[in-house]
Amino acid sequence: MTVPTPHIAAKAGDIADAVLLPGDPLRAQLIATTFLNNPVCYSEVRGMLGYTGTYNGRRISVQGTGMGMPSISIYATELMRFYGVRTAIRVGSCGALLDEVKLRHIVIALSAHTNSSMTSRTFNGLQFAPTADFGMAVAASTLAAERGLDTHVGSIYTSDSFYDDNLEDTMRLAAYGTLAVEMEAAALYLIAAKERARALCMATVSDHLLTHEMLSAEERQTGFMAMAELALDTILATD
Ligand code: HPA
Repeated sequence: MTVPTPHIAAKAGDIADAVLLPGDPLRAQLIATTFLNNPVCYSEVRGMLGYTGTYNGRRISVQGTGMGMPSISIYATELMRFYGVRTAIRVGSCGALLDEVKLRHIVIALSAHTNSSMTSRTFNGLQFAPTADFGMAVAASTLAAERGLDTHVGSIYTSDSFYDDNLEDTMRLAAYGTLAVEMEAAALYLIAAKERARALCMATVSDHLLTHEMLSAEERQTGFMAMAELALDTILATD
């Protein structure tokens, strides 16, 4: 297959080799218009907006991915396999699973457990360990500490369900030190491993599964933008 791909209407060269991946396409637009110079929208297919611009002189793209492993898998594969993306940082939100992980804190996922069949099917039942790029994880946590951002680095849980009727598995993972739950990281790490690209997932805590607290929409936005800036600077720091 060549470009354009079924889900991204960009021409060859329209997309930078480093991308930020928010789930929400309107967040992609907000990041692009806030932080990038001369942002150009390269795709609107299915409303999943993608932009390219420059950040401190470095060409960077921001692409919405939608929610869940199948959706981010489509975008990560097309970006890495057909548009030459080598570096990808998911900037998402997550639900905290531990007391010490509070609302607004940033979680940096070294690894992602999952209940999805995507990893087990890929390896015939073998338990693959979806893992972040080490250099990017170190750079992000160092930059976050310098900025005084509350950050936790460790494993997260990529769940196939947002509305999970049975939280037994989630709570068992919490008992094993899993920081938070979200729905995309394991797929991003799996695909980056296959495509030999670098990937990292960071997520701001938007809700807490133990206390049932939630951020307001406005609080979510503020925390999210600080994290997007952290992700952009992580790209510069690891070039
Ligand atoms: N569950 C799954 N994904 C999420 C959550 C959650 O509680 N919060 C943000 N993303």
